[in-house]
Amino acid sequence: MQNDFSQILVTEEEIDKTVRRMADEISRDYEGKNLVLLGILKGSVVFMGDLMKRLSIPVQIDFMKVSSYGTGTVSSGHVDIILDIRRKNLADCDILIVEDIIDSGRTLSYLAKYLRDKGARSVKTCTMLDKPSRREVEFVPDYVGKQIPDEFVVGYGLDYDEKYRALPYVAILKREVYEK
Ligand code: IMP
Ligand code: MG
Repeated sequence: MQNDFSQILVTEEEIDKTVRRMADEISRDYEGKNLVLLGILKGSVVFMGDLMKRLSIPVQIDFMKVSSYGTGTVSSGHVDIILDIRRKNLADCDILIVEDIIDSGRTLSYLAKYLRDKGARSVKTCTMLDKPSRREVEFVPDYVGKQIPDEFVVGYGLDYDEKYRALPYVAILKREVYEK
């Protein structure tokens, strides 16, 4: 499998440091609030698990599932909600959307607006990885782990065709693996 990667982009050690830094920042900012981490399935699960363990404040969790990518590496350009948040009253929730990676920005800008329209008290966004050079809509996340170049990456929750999600590091997938 190592053969499928051209480079390890973020090591386990760097991930650990990054998640701790983000957890400290979030714990400070959400002191006294009603923090709900909203993980976007499936890519965010590994990051979300690490992040929630390191928070020093009470937290609730929820999940949504959306699709923007099909099976390949090209975005379909619009967002479908496949599993919605199951909460009646969002008016007392301070929602922090947790994503694995931001690419075009479509998923998070759509979801942030969707949750505000549903009446959430506050909505902010948090992502492990960000590819700012790929934006198609204007979108700036509130918490970013690491900005990365325009490469297709896998591991730490991120997949290509449902593979590689369980890797403890983030690696650049060789083009020859998906350009066949
Ligand atoms: P956006 O709506 O274009 O910002 O897409 C974000 C979603 O695209 C992420 O949640 C991922 O599921 C997927 N994605 C974007 N870039 C990558 C990548 O490099 N590897 C794996 N998935 C990616
Ligand atoms: Mg995703």
